[in-house]
Amino acid sequence: MARPKPTVIVTRKLPDVVETRMMELFDVNLNVEDKPFSGDHLAAAMQTCDVLVPTLTDHVNKAVIDRAGPRLKLIANFGNGVDHIDVAAARAKGISVTNTPDVLTEDTADMTMALMVAVPRRLLEGATMIRDGQFKGWSPIHMLGRRLYGKRLGIIGMGRIGTAVARRARGFGMAIHYHNRRRLRPELEAEVEATYWESLDQMLARMDVISIHCPHTPATFHLLSERRLKLLKPTSYLINLARGEIVDESALVRMLEEEKLAGAGLDVFENEPAVNPKLLTMKNVIVLPHMGSATVEGRINMGERVIINIRAFCDNHPPPDRVLPPTP
Ligand code: DGY
Repeated sequence: MARPKPTVIVTRKLPDVVETRMMELFDVNLNVEDKPFSGDHLAAAMQTCDVLVPTLTDHVNKAVIDRAGPRLKLIANFGNGVDHIDVAAARAKGISVTNTPDVLTEDTADMTMALMVAVPRRLLEGATMIRDGQFKGWSPIHMLGRRLYGKRLGIIGMGRIGTAVARRARGFGMAIHYHNRRRLRPELEAEVEATYWESLDQMLARMDVISIHCPHTPATFHLLSERRLKLLKPTSYLINLARGEIVDESALVRMLEEEKLAGAGLDVFENEPAVNPKLLTMKNVIVLPHMGSATVEGRINMGERVIINIRAFCDNHPPPDRVLPPTP
């Protein structure tokens, strides 16, 4: 006799192809209108389903998890970062959590390079100037930016995305430096010719570009605090496609205002979707609406990973992308 299908609630609109496959496999409740769930709506959903598929816009905190019904056994996150989920509270309640790693690595690394080139080379300024009809012709000192080739890139967080950025940045002729909780295997370190810094402070003070690729956890909240931002060279650039909370955004704005930093490329913000309005007017800052991994292919791959995790879990196999609570 066929086993009953698990009841799955999806909190946001997903690509059609993913939703269609979910409809075939699960007893699924889709959110085709893509109206974000309120806290109460989320808690109510968690009382009636076996599997919840949230995204980073849902606050799956302890209070909400504590209200979950006994049927809920899996939170299969559509996304890589799980800082919006209290994984420890879920675990304490016997609820597993999975995410979708790997599949957004290359897209996020591409977008990191796009910002890393665009900010020092003043791409947005140039494009805006010509659109505004302000291009009056070439001159030797027109729109001078800063060269990337030969510069030092300091990567914070040398996981999948950090490593993918390092590979690309080598191709741009940059020298790769990194700070990570653990040093890379020697073969990988040699492949990207990376220099390891145990001390984040020491690395920050010596780099031309800093790019953030670590997860947001209690340990990395404001990792780039005002004190650390002040260690950066005034000629350096900061790129962040990880999470806004890793940087003290107000301190960053002050430093940019005081010209103690050459520029910034930001895809994520501390109080997302709110953005400090000052960032929107600075010529040497490019802000993007959290679109680092936003490709059609990537979103479909993410949906496929969610489906694989749910199927494995419901077949009583360990889901491939199980997430454990962060270690302090
Ligand atoms: C993630 O999956 O965590 C990304 O930030 C989504 O773009």
